[in-house]
Amino acid sequence: MAFLVTGGCGFIGSNFVRLLRRAEPRQRVVNLDALTYAGNPANLSDLENDSSYQFVHGDISDRPLVDRVLSEHSIEAVFHFAAESHVDRSILDSGPFIRTNVLGTQTLLDASRAAKVRRFVHVSTDEVYGSLGEEGFFSETTPLAPNSPYAASKASSDMLVRACHHTHGFDTVITRCSNNYGPYQFPEKLIPLVISNIEAGLPIPVYGNGLQVRDWIHVADHAAGVLAAFRNGKAGEAYNFGGRCEKTNISLVKTLLNLMGKPETLIRHVADRPGHDRRYAIDCSKAERELGWQVRVDFSKGLADTVGWYRANPGWVETIRSGDYRRYYQSQYGHRGV
Ligand code: NAD
Ligand code: TYD
Repeated sequence: MAFLVTGGCGFIGSNFVRLLRRAEPRQRVVNLDALTYAGNPANLSDLENDSSYQFVHGDISDRPLVDRVLSEHSIEAVFHFAAESHVDRSILDSGPFIRTNVLGTQTLLDASRAAKVRRFVHVSTDEVYGSLGEEGFFSETTPLAPNSPYAASKASSDMLVRACHHTHGFDTVITRCSNNYGPYQFPEKLIPLVISNIEAGLPIPVYGNGLQVRDWIHVADHAAGVLAAFRNGKAGEAYNFGGRCEKTNISLVKTLLNLMGKPETLIRHVADRPGHDRRYAIDCSKAERELGWQVRVDFSKGLADTVGWYRANPGWVETIRSGDYRRYYQSQYGHRGV
């Protein structure tokens, strides 16, 4: 018997695989990852000699491959992280988002049901709920109202997971988490982009007025939430996770500049993201009550540790800021980022 993690070479997946090896040391872990631009095997290089961990290079949309992985490894539970995950890229081209997030999830779900997997944990996002005004929080009963192609593709996958439980009685659990930060995050996302631009002496692009609000959570707390949902969640249910840590983008950028000893004159207000969601904020009381989960990482400490991690791993960032990332940065920001 073994656990399958999809997208384990990405940011959250790699942090989760590491947690799983510690928390369930007797379980074998298979990581199925297509190694897109965001997938980096170096994120799990510390597990190279771990005989209970195995990497399989492949696409979740490849049904024969998924069937083979599920049966060869007698997979008992699936933790589905694999996705195209960046809103701005989904605005530039939504095709890969539909292929992986919708068709890929459908393929994995159908194959998992056929293979009699015991539980399927689908890792989703708070962005499926759309945007909030000044007041209120997303709860699990908030209607889905996705605004970006990324959010729409994730909401579609949530609907397929829900329908699979309702129609076939398949044991599924959905997790919906707010914005993560921490080690191994690809520097297209706000926090690592700001840290690596500061390190490289580059300007910091802030979309529009920077007054959009995100609810930040450390990746370790999210990973613990996914594991708690697997262990204690009820089949067919969704659970929200958030950091109870709302920040405007502009205040977060200023905090990072301050932490890293750089002036606010590095800030550049650039064109706003089309359809930019104004505010995300999560009511995570259901997860606290029913899963025994709670946020553990204090934001100030988590952020300082994250800055420390990026500073201690310049080679990791440098490798990424080449090739495809250069082309993406140019098309997104209109100038070379490196
Ligand atoms: P990421 O972009 O860092 O990693 C995605 C991983 O999936 C990569 O390793 C990539 O190679 C792999 N992948 C992509 N397409 C694949 C395919 N077709 N087959 C197999 N593997 C494929 O993403 P992340 O930030 O770690 O997010 C992981 C999951 O968590 C996603 O489902 C995302 O929607 C969700 N999520 C992310 C956040 C966040 O703040 N980053 C918040 C809530 C939920
Ligand atoms: P991001 O990390 O892309 O996460 P998401 O869009 O999924 O919330 O962006 C976080 C916030 O930061 C979002 O409001 C967009 C904003 N942002 C910028 O202002 N500048 C940037 O260069 C990026 C990447 C994001």
